[in-house]
Amino acid sequence: MQDLPAPPYDLIILGASGFTGKYVVKEALKFLNTPSSPLKSLALAGRNPTKLTQTLQWASHPNPPPPIPILTADTTDPPSLRRLCSQTRLVLNCVGPFRLYGEPVVAACVETGCDYLDICGEPEFMERMEANYHDKTAENGSLVISACGFDSIPAEFGLMFNSRQWVGPAVPNRVDAYVSLESDKRIVGNFGTFESAVLGVANADKLMELRRSRPKKPRPVIPGPPSKGPTIEHQKKIGLWAVKLPSADAIVVRRTLGALTESPGGLPGRNESEQHIQKREAFWSTVKPAHFGVKIGTKSLLGIFRIMTVGIFIGLLGQFAFGRSLLLKFPSFFSVGWFRKEGPSDEEVRSASFKMWFVGRGFSDRSLASQGNTKPDMEIVTRVMGPEIGYLTTPIILLQCALILLSQRNNLPKGGVFPAGIVFGPTDLQERLQENGVTFDVISKNAISH
Ligand SMILES: NC(=O)c1ccc[n+]([C@@H]2O[C@H](COP(=O)([O-])OP(=O)(O)OC[C@H]3O[C@@H](n4cnc5c(N)ncnc54)[C@H](OP(=O)(O)O)[C@@H]3O)[C@@H](O)[C@H]2O)c1
Repeated sequence: MQDLPAPPYDLIILGASGFTGKYVVKEALKFLNTPSSPLKSLALAGRNPTKLTQTLQWASHPNPPPPIPILTADTTDPPSLRRLCSQTRLVLNCVGPFRLYGEPVVAACVETGCDYLDICGEPEFMERMEANYHDKTAENGSLVISACGFDSIPAEFGLMFNSRQWVGPAVPNRVDAYVSLESDKRIVGNFGTFESAVLGVANADKLMELRRSRPKKPRPVIPGPPSKGPTIEHQKKIGLWAVKLPSADAIVVRRTLGALTESPGGLPGRNESEQHIQKREAFWSTVKPAHFGVKIGTKSLLGIFRIMTVGIFIGLLGQFAFGRSLLLKFPSFFSVGWFRKEGPSDEEVRSASFKMWFVGRGFSDRSLASQGNTKPDMEIVTRVMGPEIGYLTTPIILLQCALILLSQRNNLPKGGVFPAGIVFGPTDLQERLQENGVTFDVISKNAISH
């Protein structure tokens, strides 16, 4: 059988005119046609060519816009999506909320056989795509990977990084991540993320329904008992008050740990060398599953009350149509200024940053856990740090995932719908993130005295 001709583009950014999309374009231009980059051809796509042209001008400023094709596609028009997907090796989808617009894009990628990455942070969408498309993608060879942004790569890779610091016989039992957002200006997110969160609350029952209809996945064996911390916590070591953050992170991490339990050596590549198989298996043998949760931290207890107020607004009003319309009409009021219809200014984006601390507790010797010892005697603290989460860190992560996909495709699974951690874990993603400003550090390793 003759090979099909290669599609004209390496990459198409769909939703390039969106608030996040335009920062993704800016990041992609850094790697387009540079000597060692696998990104040789790029196109921008969306439903409004004028906005896309303006995006390209904005993203290339102060340089003149490079000659990058602008393609038209609308998620309500499946043939336009199929035409789009048949022209590329990979689609980066920035059109959200994903529960509203994502499925036709995934379907078109699956039908045409191209790969798909997105920046979704919506668990129900991710799990529904796995339920609906995994078998087909595994067969036809498209790789569909969601949450390749701040949701949920810092959590996935931060947990793996912490768990790999536990050198046998030491084992972790629980890792808690504490996210702290910092800025000397205001911390602001765009409306798109707020809307996705509100719709997530409104559809929480759909996720439960979906899970009930699916076969149960195996759970990893974690030494020691499960433990739950208090609702509000003062983490003295890192100087933060913290409360549970109902983000997608813990769910995505659980899916990766579930996939690892099913395939302890990770996922075989499409056409891997013997050397790569060994590298992959060696990597996964150092990752030790742990219970995992994410909290949001602030310097003051007052900050926690502000976060809880927003949580209560979204949690209560998000359940009713009238409440949702109020939330979506007045995002700034109901989020105490954290989300704005027009998004953050460029200056607000540039002055923001994040720290994500991972406090791991476990046993200096695995046998302590099996002797019924319920109290961990060892603690390892690690940290992931980077620039503003939504519009700088997210594009950095998405682009590095894309470049890995373009340059190392044979080492990755032939096809399937997977969480990012299980696919990119054994690649050089962490090193690439470090090189691009998202850093991973070991902060301390201590014995815990009781
Ligand atoms: N993973 C993370 O950490 C992370 C970070 C940032 C954002 N996000 C997610 O990314 C998503 C987008 O957020 P945003 O703030 O960038 O939103 P946004 O500014 O509203 O952008 C949405 C984009 O989707 C396009 N679009 C909407 N409907 C479409 C349709 N029917 N066909 C084709 N394109 C369509 C819009 O096109 P027009 O320009 O023509 O309107 C726009 O380009 C949200 O779900 C958000 O939660 C995730």
